[in-house]
Amino acid sequence: MKHLLSIDDLSTDEIAQLFETAADMHDVQSREVKKLPALRGRTVVNMFFEDSTRTRSSFEIAGKWLSADVINVSAKGSSTSKGESLRDTVLTVCAMGVDGLVIRHPASGAALQVSEWVDASVVNAGDGMHEHPTQALLDAYTLQRHLGSLEGRHVAIIGDLTHSRVFRSNVQCLTKLGARVTVVAPPTLMPSGIGPWSAAAGFETSYDVDAVLPEADAVMMLRVQRERMSGAFFPSPREYTVGYGLTRNRLALLKPDVPICHPGPMNRGLEIAADAADAAQSVVLEQVSSGLAIRMAVLYHLLAGEEA
Ligand code: NCD
Repeated sequence: MKHLLSIDDLSTDEIAQLFETAADMHDVQSREVKKLPALRGRTVVNMFFEDSTRTRSSFEIAGKWLSADVINVSAKGSSTSKGESLRDTVLTVCAMGVDGLVIRHPASGAALQVSEWVDASVVNAGDGMHEHPTQALLDAYTLQRHLGSLEGRHVAIIGDLTHSRVFRSNVQCLTKLGARVTVVAPPTLMPSGIGPWSAAAGFETSYDVDAVLPEADAVMMLRVQRERMSGAFFPSPREYTVGYGLTRNRLALLKPDVPICHPGPMNRGLEIAADAADAAQSVVLEQVSSGLAIRMAVLYHLLAGEEA
């Protein structure tokens, strides 16, 4: 595996291998000295052209715990704000002898494009509304720890599907692992063309949260991505919450102990009520620590070649 650009790059065996490595990496988190020598002498650059808290720090810590040298470049403060092209910025950074390039960019396809320009291994940390493969891996890994195998388990993904790369990577990952997936959104936030896609990929769609929740073995709430919306997709925040939010009343529709996921950042009170975000069955913070283990596993598989 040279790059991780899309869940489509991974076979089910490769996902299983990543999960196995992630389980070992998870143990490192509870050690007093959180350091493995695996990537000593390797350099990883995090290039984030969009805001991020958890994904960027997670990749940074993951690289550091594996003993790589990690450098952060963000759009603000880089030469792109002086008019330099993405290609020139990336080639400049890679001319310094970079082994791994973790990139987040607002344009769908940016990571793939960058991988064609450089020799370094490229990890897609989110490209526009397209994909976010490490998020899907950490979500599936977290759910497996709670549900055992995902085979035949029913996962409901609810929220702003149109603007969500998390959803696009997750349907691929979860269906690959044998889960039954139902995606739920208001008609205005259901991606156009989802009918033929869901039929081909084998997942279901619904506009009715209250019908789906009682049948779910896991629930994944998605953020309303206002920064990607050019117009009004729903009449008011209140109406969104009433129609599609995981409210206190809707919590009661769930089977007991159904894990509640959210990739973060959460809009509390909009797509998820505090009662749900802080419920005993919420796995939101566990997703964050699993994310670190998954990113360590990904960097390890991509960069710890035989000569490392
Ligand atoms: C997601 C993203 O950036 O796509 N967040 C994340 O990586 N933790 C989802 C979001 O921003 O809503």
